[in-house]
Amino acid sequence: MALKSSFCVALAASYFSLPVTASQSPSASFESRCSDLKHAPQPSNITPLYSEYIPAGTNLVVPGLDPSCFNSTTILADICRLGLNVTTSDRSDFIMEVWLPRNWTRRFLSTGNGGINGCIGYDDMTYATQLGFAATGSNNGHSGQNGTRFLNNLEVVIDYSYRSLTMSAAIGKQVTDKFYGKAHQKSYYLGCSTGGRQGFKMAQEFPDIFDGIVAGAPAFNFQGLLSWSGLFHTIIKEVGPDGVPPQSSWAAIDAEILAQCDHLDGAIDGILEDPSLCNFRPEALICRSGAKSSTCLTGKQADTVRRFLSPVNGVNGTFVYPRAEPFSGIVGSVLSIYAPEQFQYTDHWFKYAVYNDSNLNTENLGPEQWDYAFKHDPANVRTYSGDLTKLRKRGAKLLHYHGLEDPLISSASSTYYYNLASRTMSLPSADMDKFYRYFRISGMSHCLGGTGASAIGNRGDNMASRDPKANVLTAMIRWVEEGLAPEFVTGAKFKDPKAPGEVEYTRRHCKYPLRNVLKAGGKYTNVDDWQCVL
Ligand SMILES: *[C@@H]1O[C@H](CO)[C@@H](O)[C@H](O)[C@H]1NC(C)=O
Ligand SMILES: *[C@@H]1O[C@H](CO)[C@@H](O)[C@H](O)[C@H]1NC(C)=O
Ligand SMILES: *[C@@H]1O[C@H](CO)[C@@H](O)[C@H](O)[C@H]1NC(C)=O
Ligand SMILES: *[C@@H]1O[C@H](CO)[C@@H](O)[C@H](O)[C@H]1NC(C)=O
Ligand SMILES: *[C@@H]1O[C@H](CO)[C@@H](O)[C@H](O)[C@H]1NC(C)=O
Ligand SMILES: *[C@@H]1O[C@H](CO)[C@@H](O)[C@H](O)[C@H]1NC(C)=O
Repeated sequence: MALKSSFCVALAASYFSLPVTASQSPSASFESRCSDLKHAPQPSNITPLYSEYIPAGTNLVVPGLDPSCFNSTTILADICRLGLNVTTSDRSDFIMEVWLPRNWTRRFLSTGNGGINGCIGYDDMTYATQLGFAATGSNNGHSGQNGTRFLNNLEVVIDYSYRSLTMSAAIGKQVTDKFYGKAHQKSYYLGCSTGGRQGFKMAQEFPDIFDGIVAGAPAFNFQGLLSWSGLFHTIIKEVGPDGVPPQSSWAAIDAEILAQCDHLDGAIDGILEDPSLCNFRPEALICRSGAKSSTCLTGKQADTVRRFLSPVNGVNGTFVYPRAEPFSGIVGSVLSIYAPEQFQYTDHWFKYAVYNDSNLNTENLGPEQWDYAFKHDPANVRTYSGDLTKLRKRGAKLLHYHGLEDPLISSASSTYYYNLASRTMSLPSADMDKFYRYFRISGMSHCLGGTGASAIGNRGDNMASRDPKANVLTAMIRWVEEGLAPEFVTGAKFKDPKAPGEVEYTRRHCKYPLRNVLKAGGKYTNVDDWQCVL
């Protein structure tokens, strides 16, 4: 690991020492310096692909991408777009882009990926450049949500685990400094899901790269996560058609969760502020003797619901993954996502990255295979060290958030990690707060969406405000540059979630371990009627 990171430093240094050509002098126009950028001399492991000026308002459509990647975004600032092909070993490479806004704030930002992709986060780069960051994104070493390139190729797994990000950040910083003719002042990271895991990888092992890391819904404990994700399909197959709650019952299951737990935060608003307090009892939904209804459950179906909502333990009772939280849309999501085929991420990961066996049967992965994945853990992709000492010593900041209605990555996993870090470093929250803060976002699904005040500025399409009190990215800028740490994150609920704009209400999301409760007699749409309590 140390060897790899020093390689990045060496690479960055060699890039920096290259001569600046005349056409790159800062006095030439932005547009011409941009189109010349692809001709700049590069170290032998970097092949420039394109550089082009793109004015604000352009709808960028990128041809030739894997169909599982989003290929278009509307650019919101005048930018220079540079594409590079970077070789990472004799059998691995990644594609990266650097977007340089005309109106630069002297800040640098790297974006992350999602799922097991393989896709440049164009929307995140649009958002970052809109806010004046020079931004990078990479395809993380392979193309699309397809794991076949991991097969027999640890180098590609290393790129996916961390190297595409560490190297693209080093290269992106050097390109940025050279293009503008002055050094960036602060560097940031923004990512959700796999992007959240990548953020924690930087926090755990490469804390020198970024001054501020915003990491959401992290896919950390990666081997545990994909074991848990694969178990749903196995359960569905095992219980058979009559053990699976029918689609007509899904809404009734969610309604029953609310009936049992919505009041725990003092507000009947269809949103759980702290699902960890909810001990949902699906047996309440069992059909009355003789009754026939499409919304009640048989005992066997209630048992399946319990299994969907249970933590997963492995060989000899070892920890694999915490439970799915109630009201994360889990039953409907599980049945739409994990049936009838095994979840593609789990299938590809175990076949190509864990076992190197494209014929592996992933229908019945169990404790033995999970244990193998944990022990083998290629490229340390699990990303689960609770030791953030290096980050803390350097003075870098980490803002962690997770939507409590996330059906793809359990928010309980985030809470579990926060407490792991607290124990590992032997620090109470008052000390953790100085460098690491965790916010549970009620009413938020996976990285965006959900039933509540989920717009927190973690993405451009999930932003109601640039105010640091209501935007996790500008909150991080203020924390890093002014030393003012966020006490809460205000989320907005859009009237029409499909057309972000008009806000129905806002709500302050508390810093863990505080939880949100409505004051007696309060109204749930009044932001000031809520308080954070222990
Ligand atoms: C972009 O993606 C869409 C949807 O997958 C596809 O229909 C379209 O052909 C793609 N465009 C290009 C230029 O590849
Ligand atoms: C990037 O370079 C590698 C080898 O250096 C090559 O195999 C790959 O096709 C290139 N990718 C693109 C998009 O140019
Ligand atoms: C440039 O950025 C600054 C600071 O973000 C902003 O105040 C200004 O309006 C921007 N100018 C243009 C032309 O976009
Ligand atoms: C993944 O890529 C392989 C090899 O290119 C291809 O045969 C396969 O169909 C792809 N699978 C998916 C799910 O895209
Ligand atoms: C899979 O193949 C890679 C490259 O040959 C190797 O490093 C790794 O140890 C293999 N994994 C297993 C489980 O055999
Ligand atoms: C489980 O526990 C038994 C008895 O202590 C031990 O022999 C075995 O190695 C353990 N299995 C694993 C995979 O840790």
